[in-house]
Amino acid sequence: MPQVALPTELSPIHSPASAPGDDFRPALAFTALTPWFDVVARVAIRDNALKERLADLLPLQPGQAALDVGCGTGTLLLRLRERQPQARFFGADADPTALAIAARKAAAAGASLALTVASATRLPFPDAAFDAVTTSLLLHHLATAEKRQALAEIRRVLRPGGRLLAADYDAPRTWLETLAFLPVRLFDGFDATEANAQGELPTLIQAAGLEDIQTCAELPTAFGYITVWRARRPSAVTPL
Ligand SMILES: C[S@@+](CC[C@H](N)C(=O)[O-])C[C@H]1O[C@@H](n2cnc3c(N)ncnc32)[C@H](O)[C@@H]1O
Repeated sequence: MPQVALPTELSPIHSPASAPGDDFRPALAFTALTPWFDVVARVAIRDNALKERLADLLPLQPGQAALDVGCGTGTLLLRLRERQPQARFFGADADPTALAIAARKAAAAGASLALTVASATRLPFPDAAFDAVTTSLLLHHLATAEKRQALAEIRRVLRPGGRLLAADYDAPRTWLETLAFLPVRLFDGFDATEANAQGELPTLIQAAGLEDIQTCAELPTAFGYITVWRARRPSAVTPL
């Protein structure tokens, strides 16, 4: 399995001067509410079940490098690390407040996570650096053009054959689901949630140059259902 030389530790959080700016939608719309995200997510979208399912779907090998884009408070990274403590875990998020919480949770768990303040649309990692990339509940924070950029960045940092696991709100199938999804659309913006509402995420994943896109889980929540997709960066073509 090809491994890319990455530092096992990046400095935990870049200085505020290197932060990507405030052109992002925080987890709960206002950064002041970020400390409440874990509690709200546990109650509102059964976050424990979601993260457990994601960890089930992404077995990692010792030494492999995994990046969570829009990692927020680090819940998924810590869950993945419980399953495979010998993998290397990286998280990128635009919100330094969320990363500070992730760093505290990691310290409490005795875990080493390399956390970086970064925009999903400009990931500060080399090409083909990761065996796996996850992104959970980030895409509905990004306008469609940003979704495209973020997915292109994810493809770039995945090694050929590397896996993407993406979870986000999917198109409502009934008027009740449309109604349930409305608070998310009001909260996070109609522009950012439009591609979700139209069921376009798999098309965007494919347009970014990823292949073998599979729907591997659908989790109903009080705000509509969350779909988990798996995809792969095409393996390099061996010249004849
Ligand atoms: C709903 S939270 C999900 C957090 C985490 N992935 C989880 O599932 O628990 C969305 C996260 O995306 C981050 N985010 C929003 N826009 C971003 C961007 N342009 N680049 C990086 N992160 C972004 C927010 O700061 C927030 O932490």
